[in-house]
Amino acid sequence: MSVIETNTLETVSAAAGPESGSPADDWRRTAVVYQIYPRSFADGDGDGIGDLPGIIGRLGALAELGVDAVWLSPFYKSPQADAGYDVADYRDIDPLFGTLDDFDALVAKAHDLGLKVIIDLVPNHSSDEHVWFQQALAAGPGSPERERYIFRDGLGERGELPPNNWVSCFRGPAWTRTTNADGTPGQWYLHLFDTKQPDWNWEHPEVREEFLSVLRFWLDRGADGFRVDVAHALIKAPGLPDLVHPIQDPEADPEGFFMNGPMWDQDRVHEVYQSWRALLDEYSPDRILCAEAWVQPLSRLANYVRPDEMHQAFNFEYLDTPWNAAALRTSITASVASNESVGAPTTWVLSNHDVVRHASRLGLPGNGPRPNGIRAGDVQPDAELGLRRARAATLLMLALPGSAYLYQGEELGLPDHTDLDDDLRQDPTWWRSEYTEAGRDGCRVPLPWQADAPGLGFGPTGLTWLPQPEAYTELARDRQLGVAGSTLEMYRTALRLRREYGLGPGSLEWADDLGSGDVLSFVNGQVRVAANIGTTPVALLAGATVVHSSVELPGDGTLPPDTTVWLV
Ligand code: NOJ
Repeated sequence: MSVIETNTLETVSAAAGPESGSPADDWRRTAVVYQIYPRSFADGDGDGIGDLPGIIGRLGALAELGVDAVWLSPFYKSPQADAGYDVADYRDIDPLFGTLDDFDALVAKAHDLGLKVIIDLVPNHSSDEHVWFQQALAAGPGSPERERYIFRDGLGERGELPPNNWVSCFRGPAWTRTTNADGTPGQWYLHLFDTKQPDWNWEHPEVREEFLSVLRFWLDRGADGFRVDVAHALIKAPGLPDLVHPIQDPEADPEGFFMNGPMWDQDRVHEVYQSWRALLDEYSPDRILCAEAWVQPLSRLANYVRPDEMHQAFNFEYLDTPWNAAALRTSITASVASNESVGAPTTWVLSNHDVVRHASRLGLPGNGPRPNGIRAGDVQPDAELGLRRARAATLLMLALPGSAYLYQGEELGLPDHTDLDDDLRQDPTWWRSEYTEAGRDGCRVPLPWQADAPGLGFGPTGLTWLPQPEAYTELARDRQLGVAGSTLEMYRTALRLRREYGLGPGSLEWADDLGSGDVLSFVNGQVRVAANIGTTPVALLAGATVVHSSVELPGDGTLPPDTTVWLV
């Protein structure tokens, strides 16, 4: 056992950057944003798929939780080939989810409750059912309509080979061949994701104008901003050069494919976001842009949050940092410093609809790479350990200066569904990987609201588009609300204290000379935070008052393993 001391403090950051006026008032720098995945949040009409009326009915629960804003994953008109990230009409709501009137009602109710509303914008690709793509197919090679997407002739004697060796993020080729009007094989089009998600050609002025108009459409309807899907992919390297090494399995070589390929993070992509920022600034001063950009190193990510671009960029490097004190400290220090260099806050996140939930991830043995879903035959997470670590990880994250995103259900401590019937999987990764990678369905299961209701209260009929695992009954919201020590109450208290102590706009000073290298210890304003990432208890500071902890402390003055504490 060892004593945590505070004699040496290393200042890493002050959250206020050169561009901020009054950081305490600037929600974009400090907000806790709750991600709603509409199809799995709450079902209003009883068809088993969540919808906007369902969300409206449950917004009160989010205000009660204490978040500042919600981000809605796509609700646009879509054939749902990628759960709505395949948009057929950027200015309409899919009937699955409701109507534009429902959207207006949702924004009004959220604003009444003091919640901002961020929506998802998907600019890299549309659905193949988008009218412009349909026109492009009909108009044929060489037509202006085809210029809005990325069509190319094939290689080989008869154009039978794809134009380059790029692969889809969902596995398989990134090119699909079209059929000409006379039935002969035609040109190929690029899709970095599914065949039904053709990439836009962002070199085309009409595409740029169209998206500026789409931004205006939603800003005029009251949206407070946008989470920008695959923000780093819009501009491709000139000439669409081959990947240096033909990569069959991007998951096996993430550095080579997901981060460094010629389709990612091209310098000219920033022109687009500068123009978007200028447009947002024409509106009230507090609209927001948040980048989903899987970019390395951190200095490249910081480019997206320069003063004339976006306000936030998810810190996925942090999400992927193993449960290891040294690694976490390095990641936090580097993230804060990198964002600070451009005057931006850091945007922390531990879970979302694309990754195994942190309550499951942190229960997996070892510190291996994050799996793309977990199947029944795979090594199963240790549920108890996973939840304990997830709670500690959350309290650590929520004590850091900057903003933070929560994924729906993490406030209940939900794990992934790890033994979902393979026949029920809907993520295109499952079939595109030839049934080798589970994909993301396990983290997208409908939420449990009421333990005793059919479908755990997800909707009025008990139908749920994916079955809920058994563990969800005990974790249902009504089993946790008002129950001391529950994960839900841990989150509520954390969010209240985070606000009261000003942790979001605060600063971070590491406390050195720790008794254990396995403890992360820092000061943010009045609050001293300690997270024991190791395997043995450490002694807490004598005389300090515990204001919050991720689990009940043993009462003997020690901080147990996999536990975070906030002290004053
Ligand atoms: C990132 C989104 O979060 C993911 O769900 C989607 O499949 C891809 N972008 C493609 O839009």
